[in-house]
Amino acid sequence: MQPITVLVTGANRGIGLELVRQIVARQSPPKHVFATCRNPDQAKDLQALAKETPSIDIVKLDVTDYATLRNTVVPHVQSKVGDLGLNLLVNNAGVLIPDELAKVTPEAMREVYEVNTIAPVMITQAFLPLLKAASARTTGGLSCSRAAVINITSKAGSCGDNTNGKYYSYRCSKAALNIATVSLSVDLKGDGILAAVLHPGWVKTQMGGSNAIHELSDSAKGMLDVMDRLTENETGKFFEWKGNEIPW
Ligand SMILES: NC(=O)c1ccc[n+]([C@@H]2O[C@H](COP(=O)([O-])OP(=O)(O)OC[C@H]3O[C@@H](n4cnc5c(N)ncnc54)[C@H](OP(=O)(O)O)[C@@H]3O)[C@@H](O)[C@H]2O)c1
Repeated sequence: MQPITVLVTGANRGIGLELVRQIVARQSPPKHVFATCRNPDQAKDLQALAKETPSIDIVKLDVTDYATLRNTVVPHVQSKVGDLGLNLLVNNAGVLIPDELAKVTPEAMREVYEVNTIAPVMITQAFLPLLKAASARTTGGLSCSRAAVINITSKAGSCGDNTNGKYYSYRCSKAALNIATVSLSVDLKGDGILAAVLHPGWVKTQMGGSNAIHELSDSAKGMLDVMDRLTENETGKFFEWKGNEIPW
């Protein structure tokens, strides 16, 4: 894939930061990479990367702040990309509150749903005009070069894969994100926009913890390889970072 414009949420650390790092290091890197995070002032690693990579634009965004999204972030991106639109939107920001039946609370269920499910849908809605503009610049099949929404989900949101139980708030939020992505794939196909969910593996990040089995660099590279291969045949599907399809 060779998107000209890309936006990644939650890009200050973990998988989001590594995706940005690898996207700008590609052979044909995008012209604009919008790396959003809640606290740009504290995003030292992202700042260091942006200092040596002029295409990176660090944008302040709490993904649940829909007013800032619409009134500030989308207009900013629009002003920078102009007619290019937005080729690739990666909804990566996410939260996990570990729970089990005896401990789960309504507050935790709502908080996790807000970040992991509602925000990616609202961000996609807000960027739809820019995704459509990018898509309209080319004809042909669906791809992450043309226009795509990639939602970073988790295998924890797979009903078919759930043999360990627990994690009510997280599992529900990701299962809901999965079905939202299927709706996006149906609704946006006619506009030439692809939508898919990717599971990054169990990755060594703050969320994944130190027992995680996969390296950040391998996971991000794997997911970018999968994005490279996505076509209209794969829109609306659920893949893990090595490219295998995951049961819903
Ligand atoms: N690591 C794994 O093993 C694993 C497995 C399956 C799926 N995933 C998924 O992969 C994605 C990235 O996870 P990760 O492992 O990189 O986690 P992480 O290291 O905990 O990073 C989470 C990122 O999300 C951001 N974030 C959380 N709430 C936000 C909000 N309201 N607004 C803006 N940004 C917010 C965080 O920003 P702050 O620094 O401001 O908190 C941080 O940048 C998530 O969607 C996660 O569910 C991860």
